[in-house]
Amino acid sequence: MNIRNPADLVELDCAQSIWENCFTVFPLVVVGTREADGSDDLAPKHMAMPLSWKNHYGFVCTPSHHTYSNVRRDGVFAVTYMRPSQTVLASLAATPRCDDGSKPITQALPTIAAEKIDAPLVADGYLFLECELVDIRDDLDDNSLIIGRIVAARVAADALRDHERDDEDLVYNTPLLAYLYPGRFAEIRASTQLPFPAGFKR
Ligand SMILES: Cc1cc2nc3c(=O)[nH]c(=O)nc-3n(C[C@H](O)[C@H](O)[C@H](O)COP(=O)(O)O)c2cc1C
Repeated sequence: MNIRNPADLVELDCAQSIWENCFTVFPLVVVGTREADGSDDLAPKHMAMPLSWKNHYGFVCTPSHHTYSNVRRDGVFAVTYMRPSQTVLASLAATPRCDDGSKPITQALPTIAAEKIDAPLVADGYLFLECELVDIRDDLDDNSLIIGRIVAARVAADALRDHERDDEDLVYNTPLLAYLYPGRFAEIRASTQLPFPAGFKR
């Protein structure tokens, strides 16, 4: 569909969240932190991404979530990039808390320990980041942006790019999880080289 005529566009109400009106592509990660009692806390986040070409990483978090208060208190968080086969696990980590404030589902998810920080990672993910808190930007409407510096990172061997392996085969054999906000997901296996302009430099 070619859209050249503004009359074909539907105006959205910017006084509300606009993102429910069409699908957009996000990653789906699980952020791991320690609760005040030292137990694991895991929560899925889709508004999460690198914030610099080097090693800054950020995610948007609601301040009422335990993840927010855990990061503010401990100054660290761990990020697991989930595989398509782990979509249900990622979603389950958003199970509402019980009346006593506990979230028992978190204890049921398989975890591995981070190495440089004290926070849980989800077992069987494909990319694992360990971050130290750099800054928290509050008052983004009802949300906050948590910014960290990656101090350790590990990737599963089957997801690691190398010169011996074609990138297309890599993505086919180790598919990626895309969250199509607000409420669908996709397993990405088919991918094509992006045609960069001649002479393109980052
Ligand atoms: C697919 C999915 C994506 C989510 N993305 C975000 C997000 O980007 N930011 C956020 O604050 N909450 C997000 N949430 C909601 C929280 O992860 C959820 O409320 C969680 O239970 C909070 O847990 P906590 O109190 O342990 O931090 C998402 C939930 C789901 C199911």
